[in-house]
Amino acid sequence: MKIIIDTDPGQDDAAAIMLALGSPEIELLGITAVAGNVPLALTERNARIICEMSGRRDVKVFAGADGPLHGRQVTAEHVHGRSGLDGPELFEPSFSLHDGHAVDFIVRTLMTEAAESVTLCPIGPLTNIALALQKQPEIAGRMQQIVLMGGGYFAQGNVTPSAEFNIYADPEAAAVVFASGVPMVMMPLDVTHKVLTTRPRIERIRAIDNRAARAMVEMLEFYRRYDVNKYGTDGGPLHDPTTIAWLLQPDLFQGRMCNVEIETTSPLTRGATAVDWWGVTDRDKNAMVIGDVDADGFFDLLTRRLANLG
Ligand code: BDR
Ligand code: CA
Repeated sequence: MKIIIDTDPGQDDAAAIMLALGSPEIELLGITAVAGNVPLALTERNARIICEMSGRRDVKVFAGADGPLHGRQVTAEHVHGRSGLDGPELFEPSFSLHDGHAVDFIVRTLMTEAAESVTLCPIGPLTNIALALQKQPEIAGRMQQIVLMGGGYFAQGNVTPSAEFNIYADPEAAAVVFASGVPMVMMPLDVTHKVLTTRPRIERIRAIDNRAARAMVEMLEFYRRYDVNKYGTDGGPLHDPTTIAWLLQPDLFQGRMCNVEIETTSPLTRGATAVDWWGVTDRDKNAMVIGDVDADGFFDLLTRRLANLG
């Protein structure tokens, strides 16, 4: 499977990248960074740090959009810390960004790789993906699919009462992506809130003796604090790696095809995902919306694949 991960790391983004790098079925063509949890200068650096922690200085990392299509950037330092990747000791990466803009890399890759052979995995705001679709609309017909983390329906929102962070951070971009006609799989809060970083799950990762897993444990220890305080659960939702897990083991998940539209105008519900879960409209079913997961199976997969990052 050839994929591009579009990301704003983020400790849970790190888990997604490491899961991909530890999985031989996946060929990671590149990582495209976007402004999100923290500003772009930090997300692109964090992406390189994660690759280096995984022993993969060869991964191509590109910098992309430094803010949303419209309005001001929203960040989430209150969740991820000032660096975006608080927890482990961070360092200056020893390899550079790849030349060129992330959006150009996405367009070029989709236009040159075989049609329908590349999957995009956006796990941050959708700015880079929308810009690529606007720059070269032909790419919509050349993607295999988009598997993204974003939105919520019964779970509502995590950054406003009705909006999830990735969609709220750039609703206009999300609207472009959901209207693109590309086959889509959506991992909303409804499913990600079922994969919690409980103590026993973290301890199993701690038992792996490699650099990536040690760094992952330090990230998860930091990252769980915010959600444990907020929700009173044992652990925080590990949102982003659900996308990669779905590619590797779709039988862990359950969902249904739905129409999904993005609210861009209402000041109260901007960034909300209107998911027609019950099929009460005749609007096009444009996304496979995931609602359930075998959480233990998901953590087994993640733990096994982190162990491959020796
Ligand atoms: C999403 O927002 C970010 O803070 C996480 O990395 C994840 O992609 C969850 O709402
Ligand atoms: Ca993210």
